[in-house]
Amino acid sequence: MAAPGTPAPPTPIAPGDGLLGGRGGPPDSMPGAKQLPVLIRRKRDGGRLSEEDIKGFISAVVEGSAQGAQIGAMLMAIRLQGMDLEETSALTQAMARSGEQLQWPAAWHQQLVDKHSTGGVGDKVSLILAPALAACGCKVPMISGRGLGHTGGTLDKLESIPGFNVIQSPQQMQVLLEQVGCCIVGQSKELVPADGILYAARDVTATVDSLPLITASILSKKAVEGLSALVIDVKFGGAAVFPDQEKARELARALVGVGADLGLRVAAALTAMDNPLGRNVGHTLEVEEALLCLDGTGPPDLRDLVTRLGKGSG
Ligand code: URA
Repeated sequence: MAAPGTPAPPTPIAPGDGLLGGRGGPPDSMPGAKQLPVLIRRKRDGGRLSEEDIKGFISAVVEGSAQGAQIGAMLMAIRLQGMDLEETSALTQAMARSGEQLQWPAAWHQQLVDKHSTGGVGDKVSLILAPALAACGCKVPMISGRGLGHTGGTLDKLESIPGFNVIQSPQQMQVLLEQVGCCIVGQSKELVPADGILYAARDVTATVDSLPLITASILSKKAVEGLSALVIDVKFGGAAVFPDQEKARELARALVGVGADLGLRVAAALTAMDNPLGRNVGHTLEVEEALLCLDGTGPPDLRDLVTRLGKGSG
């Protein structure tokens, strides 16, 4: 969604940002850089990370003093050893604070809602639900993600529309919410940069299916949006990140628990996903199916889920 008459465009996160040692590797004076092996070892060996440890790691990621290998090693240590709710909450807050917090006019405060999905094949619900909620008078400042593992990303689907720009500044987002009622944008150097970097790193280090990393990734984006309510679609089954319903339930509990810790009103729906949602899979085809659904047609399973999650967002 291009915004008219707005100032300097925001900066997307470049593919190598934070993955190749940032800007030429860590200068000796950079705080945190030398400590990273200690933190990685602590988590690798099953220890807990303090709030300060986690803040240090996230600063090093965003400042570029953490090398790609160190980021990958920490992600794998977290994937293998897990994190308790307190660590997950600290990680979520550190990631959310890595960029700007969105501020909205006071008159919008009860209208700000959003939905997020843990991801599944053919899941195009956000493309339909964001404008549908806007049509009901809500404001939906959705920060979304790209493809992760074998699941497709909402941002990639939108970019199959020629000229569609998913990188928008906070000012541009406000213009879009005033004019349209919703926007779907990606992480950038201004918006949750830590998630932009860790998200891309997880995708290439076999660390996507980590409960604390998914929780922090989703809720860090939502924490900066200034929401009054959030619904999360937690998927399980062969076409989702977690095939197993029990794992998905554990994830739903973590999302609601950490959300409450952050002062977010979160509802989580567990939805089965053994088959792709709707009939179409593939970015352009999914956008086409979303448009059909917005026109009042589209496959019944997709329409049902959109309606169910829409009721949960209010
Ligand atoms: N959506 C996200 O934003 N992050 C994840 O890790 C999974 C789904």
